[in-house]
Amino acid sequence: MTLLGRLGILCVLAAVGGAATGAFAQLAQGPADKYIAAMDNPHRVLKVDEVIAKLELKPGDIVADIGSGSGSFSIPMAKAIAPNGVLYAVDIDQKMLDHVAQRAKDAGITNLRTVLGEYDDPKLPVKNVDVAFFHRVLHMIEHRQAYLDATAKYLKPDGRVVVIDKNHEQSPNSWMWLNQSDVDTWMAAIGFYPAQQFAVFDDRYFVAYQRPYGNSVLLKKHAAKGN
Ligand SMILES: C[S@@+](CC[C@H](N)C(=O)[O-])C[C@H]1O[C@@H](n2cnc3c(N)ncnc32)[C@H](O)[C@@H]1O
Repeated sequence: MTLLGRLGILCVLAAVGGAATGAFAQLAQGPADKYIAAMDNPHRVLKVDEVIAKLELKPGDIVADIGSGSGSFSIPMAKAIAPNGVLYAVDIDQKMLDHVAQRAKDAGITNLRTVLGEYDDPKLPVKNVDVAFFHRVLHMIEHRQAYLDATAKYLKPDGRVVVIDKNHEQSPNSWMWLNQSDVDTWMAAIGFYPAQQFAVFDDRYFVAYQRPYGNSVLLKKHAAKGN
């Protein structure tokens, strides 16, 4: 098949909510309106409240929802960290960000900022992020190691990178997967370890990575063991 033919198929797949891994991953982006409708499908299993509870988000936290899409997590997370916490909704598509900003405005949320990221860098305006959150996004990013490396530079020393995605075995017929073992490897390369793993989803892993500094869960676990 020609290159143009292959790109055409990828775009059609993306338009119905699909995404490719590999060399074409960042090209597999559908039109925002169709994407938003797919993400706001009420049948999507998101368990937002459980995710927020497991992460113990609290007022004052600084959270980056990377690949925020239609804002399914951004809006409730912004509420959870209000009034003095800030939620940065990051996406590469300005139309998605406009949609999230409107949702926030309609809901009276004042602690949410939108950020137009780049393919390999979320371009956050601060370097004190507590949680960088990726729900079903990292598999879409072509240069994962570079992106995670860039993201880590915006975190507090004990900030967490949270990844929720699907292993290949859990979605054998789909392109939309990313093995946790690969994420573990990329995170270890920049000094982050799986500090927390939560069994919230049947079909997705949910892992919080952290460096062993400051008030990290890793150091607390170590101290609790009396080591
Ligand atoms: C499958 S959607 C998930 C949206 C949201 N996290 C959710 O679960 O509802 C993936 C989102 O990631 C965004 N995205 C793709 N590549 C990105 C990148 N390099 N940086 C930031 N966002 C990206 C897309 O525009 C899209 O909004």
